[in-house]
Amino acid sequence: MDSIRVRANGPLRGQIPIAGAKNACLALMPATLLSEEPLTLTNAPRLSDIRTMTLLLRSLGVEVSALADGKVIALSSHGLTSTRADYDIVRKMRASNLVLGPLLAREGVATVSLPGGCAIGARPMDIHIAALEALGAEIELRDGYLHAKAPRGLRGTRVALRFASVGATENTLMAAVLAKGTTVIENAAREPEIVDLALCLSRMGAQIDGAGTSTITVQGVDRLAGATHHVVADRIELGTYMLAPAFAGGEVECIGGHLDLLGAFVEKLRLVGLEVEESAAGVRVRRSADRLQAVDVVTEPYPGFPTDLQAQMMAMLCTAQGVSVLEERIFENRFMHAPELMRMGARIEVHGGTARITGVERLRGAPVMATDLRASVSLILAGLGAEGETVVNRVYHLDRGYERLEEKLRAVGADIERIAA
Ligand code: EPZ
Repeated sequence: MDSIRVRANGPLRGQIPIAGAKNACLALMPATLLSEEPLTLTNAPRLSDIRTMTLLLRSLGVEVSALADGKVIALSSHGLTSTRADYDIVRKMRASNLVLGPLLAREGVATVSLPGGCAIGARPMDIHIAALEALGAEIELRDGYLHAKAPRGLRGTRVALRFASVGATENTLMAAVLAKGTTVIENAAREPEIVDLALCLSRMGAQIDGAGTSTITVQGVDRLAGATHHVVADRIELGTYMLAPAFAGGEVECIGGHLDLLGAFVEKLRLVGLEVEESAAGVRVRRSADRLQAVDVVTEPYPGFPTDLQAQMMAMLCTAQGVSVLEERIFENRFMHAPELMRMGARIEVHGGTARITGVERLRGAPVMATDLRASVSLILAGLGAEGETVVNRVYHLDRGYERLEEKLRAVGADIERIAA
C-alpha cells in the first residue's frame, strides 16, 4: 500500500486545476441505463471510484469506453445482460446503489446488494426504498440484497424524503423520469451534483423542474435519447485545495471552480482570516494573516457547510487561534481523522458528533493512517504546515477521490512525494 510523505516547504504559489466532480460522475454514469442511445461524459475525473463504476456497469452489459486519457467516458446500454449489482462491487463503493432507480425505470427489475457499513457510518438505504416503493416498486430485502421489481411499471406520485439524502434524491429522480405521470420530490437534496444530473437528464429529453431546490417536479416521458454532458467541477476537490494556503501560507488559484458551488464553506474561510475571491479562471485564496482565527462549524446538507470538507476544516482549525466547536450532523462516525491529528500534536476533544478543537501554534509531523477518503486528505494538508515529516499511510483511500494530488500540490511548491509500498 502506497504512502505519501509531506514536509512544510514555505508558502504555496500558483494554479491548481480542478477536475470534474466524482460525486456528479458517479450519478451521471448510471443514467446511461435510462436510454438505449449513447451517453458521453466530458471533463470526467480519473479516479478509482470511476473505474469501479465502470466495472459495475460493464457487469450489467453496458459498453463503457474511457477516451482522451480517461477525461471522456462513452457509455452505451442498448443491450443489458444483467440487472444485478453484486456485493463484491457494492461493498467497495456505496455509490453503486445508484443503478437501482435507473434499472427499475428501464427494466422493471433490479437486484442490488446493500452496501453494508463503511468507515463513516451505517449508511442505510431506507429513504431510497421508501421513495421507490411510493413510485410503485416492490422491494424485498433478502440475503443482503434488495430485490426490487415494478411489474406494472413506475407511476408518478408525491414523494417526501424524510431527510434530504443525496443518493436517494438521485435514485428517485432517475426512476421518475420514465415513470407514468408526474412525480414531485419534496425535501430533495439541493447539492450541485443533483443540478448536474438533472441537466444531463434534461439533455436526454427528461422534463424536470426545480433541481437545486427542495422540490423537484418530473413529468415522466416514454423514452430518453442519448446526450453529451460536461461534468460539473468538483466542489469538494475545490474546497480542499482552497484550504491549502491556510496550512502552508501563500496564495493559490483553483482553476475551473466557482464560489457558488461551495455554499456556507466560503464564509467560514473568510471568518478564519483567509482572503477568498473569484478570478476570471476560477477561485483565488490567499493567507496574509500570520495566525488564523478559531470558528464554529456545523455540517448540513447543501447549501450548508459540506460534510465532505469537515475533516479538512478540522485539520486547519488545529492551529487556529482559540477554541473551535465543530459539529458533524450528516454522518454518525466521521471523526476518525481526529486521533491521527492528535498524533501530530492537535488538541481535540470528541464527544459524540461534536469536536472541540483548541488551537496550537504548530503541528508536528508524524506517521499517520488514512481511514477514509476525506480524512486522508486532511492529514496531507496538516503535513503541509507541520514541523518535520508526515507520512500518510494507506493512501488508496485518497486515490478514490483526488486525481494526481501530489502532482497538483508539488506544482504550487509543496514538498510531497508518493512512496510506493
Ligand atoms: C453522498 O453520499 C456523497 N457520495 C457523499 O460523499 C456525501 O458525504 C453525502 O452524499 C452527503 O453529502 C456520493 O455522492 C457518491 P446521503 P450519500 O444519502 O448519497 C443517511 C465522499 O467523500 N441516510 O446524503 O450516500 C446516511 O446514513 C462521499 O465523496 C439514511 O439514513 O449520502 C447519512 O448519515 C462520502 N438512509 C446521511 O443520510 C438512506 O436511505 C446522508 O446520506 C440514505 C441516507
